[in-house]
Amino acid sequence: MEERIKKELVLQALNIRKNSYSPYSGFCVGAALLTEGGRIYTAVNMENASYPAGICAEAAAFAKAISEGERSFSAIAIAGGKEGEECFPCGICRQIMAEHCRGDLTVIIIRSPEDYRELKLEQLLPFGFRLEK
Ligand code: THU
Repeated sequence: MEERIKKELVLQALNIRKNSYSPYSGFCVGAALLTEGGRIYTAVNMENASYPAGICAEAAAFAKAISEGERSFSAIAIAGGKEGEECFPCGICRQIMAEHCRGDLTVIIIRSPEDYRELKLEQLLPFGFRLEK
C-alpha cells in the first residue's frame, strides 16, 4: 500500500478520535477503515451508561462501511488513548475483522502522526474462528 494512503488513514483516525463518546472510561479511540475501492470510513468508540452497550471504534467503522454496501477492505488504522499510547484492537474487534477481511488486512496502530506500526490481521488473530458460509 502506498505510504501516502497510510498517512491519510493515520491522519483521519487521529482526527476523528476527537469525536469519541467515552465519558465513562475517558479512553478515546478513532478508527479509519480503507476499502479495496479506496473509500475511507471513520468512526469512534461510543460508550453507554449500560457498559456492555458500548461499541468500539473499529466495530463502528465496520458497521458504517458494511451498511453502505462495502464488502472488501484492505486496511484499518486505530488511534486510541493519549498521544504516544498504542491501542491494539480488542478480541471482539479482531473477530469482526476476521469476518470481513482476509488475514492480510493491514492493521495500523498509531502512536502519533509520524509514529505508527503496521501489522497483519493474521498476526493479531492466528487460528481465528470461522464458519463456512
Ligand atoms: N475500545 C475501542 O474502541 N477499541 C479498541 O480496540 C479497544 C477499546 C474502546 C472501548 C471503550 O469505549 C474504551 O475503549 C475503553 O475500553
